[in-house]
Amino acid sequence: MAFSFSSLFSSQPKSVLGVDIGTSSIKVVQLKRDHGRVVLETYGAIALGPYAGVEIGRATALAGDKIGEALKDVIREANVSTSDAAIAIPYSSSLISILNLPAGVEKQLAQVVPIEARKYIPVPINEVLLDWFVVGGDGNTAQGDQAGKIQVLLVAIHNETISKFRSISSTAALQTGFFEIEVFSSVRAALEHGIAPVAVVDMGAATTKFYVVERGLIHESHIINHGSQDITLAASRALGISVAQAEERKRKIGLSGGAPDQPGVADLRKSLELSLSPLLSELARTVTAYETRTNQALSALVFTGGGATLKGLREFAQQKIQTEIRLADPFGKTQAPAFLEAILKEAGPEFCVAVGLALRRLQEIG
Ligand SMILES: Nc1ncnc2c1ncn2[C@@H]1O[C@H](COP(=O)(O)OP(=O)(O)OP(=O)(O)O)[C@@H](O)[C@H]1O
Ligand SMILES: [Mg+2]
Repeated sequence: MAFSFSSLFSSQPKSVLGVDIGTSSIKVVQLKRDHGRVVLETYGAIALGPYAGVEIGRATALAGDKIGEALKDVIREANVSTSDAAIAIPYSSSLISILNLPAGVEKQLAQVVPIEARKYIPVPINEVLLDWFVVGGDGNTAQGDQAGKIQVLLVAIHNETISKFRSISSTAALQTGFFEIEVFSSVRAALEHGIAPVAVVDMGAATTKFYVVERGLIHESHIINHGSQDITLAASRALGISVAQAEERKRKIGLSGGAPDQPGVADLRKSLELSLSPLLSELARTVTAYETRTNQALSALVFTGGGATLKGLREFAQQKIQTEIRLADPFGKTQAPAFLEAILKEAGPEFCVAVGLALRRLQEIG
């Protein structure tokens, strides 16, 4: 192979694409590295509702070929110019649990974990892809650890899921460097490095995902069965308007937009507040349960996901929950034109997973 200095110096920085395929929409974020800085090149989202014959903002369960079509469309609409991608695997298609194993088995995890995993995984082990990380007890003790044990975070993804995502990737003509469960992507983009336990709360369309992160590692995760589409459906019923209209007003006015004396604004807010209650109460219960069990306080809740972009949500939720609430700002980890700053801050929570994927891909190729 010929080596030339000119090609070394003229080589263009390579761009990468993070792809987050949610139940209600696909989000893409293109980044590149320039002089050591991470530059935001483009981003975009496309609602999947119209591909499934339902309203924008609602959760769908589409086959891979339809998702591939939608992905092609958003790639075109957002002027994406790279095919080097990383794709998120939905949390719901994965199984994450903590194994408590006797200290000393660290060197034999490749044999021990698949055997132990059988107790936790409801399908034959040869139908899943297994991955694991030691998260505690390795001289790196956290509260709640058991003496003489190490804690191993076990991750399993069904082979069928991987092949579905591979085929979506090829429909959209992407070269996918890796697939990653969305939990890890989201945490990478939403959090700063820190020791204290924080929770990432990802508000999607049908569900809300809750992850506790301590010393940079995911210690616990689960799903709350309330999401942002519930409050749209409730507003549509309460105000006697179509689901599409309710979705539009939820996004435009939310809990704090529009003048309170404008017709319909007060009623909309009341409905949104009412229908948010079950979600926020369950979130508060989840926080308390974690704190009681581990005997340590969460230092903050970081909200991500499209549902977290509801105007006025942070302030409203803070009245109901004692732990400090922050909105994720993943684009804050990238360089972008100053005039976009406010827009990117507002849209940020929705793009957390996509940013997290692109950040890791950049690191891999850098
Ligand atoms: N500006 C906005 N104000 C309020 N809600 C919004 C706004 N933008 C999007 N949403 C809501 O966010 C929800 C979708 O969030 P997100 O895109 O994070 O979900 P998803 O990734 O498709 O779902 P999941 O992660 O559960 O599969 C929708 O229900 C939508 O109504
Ligand atoms: Mg999502």
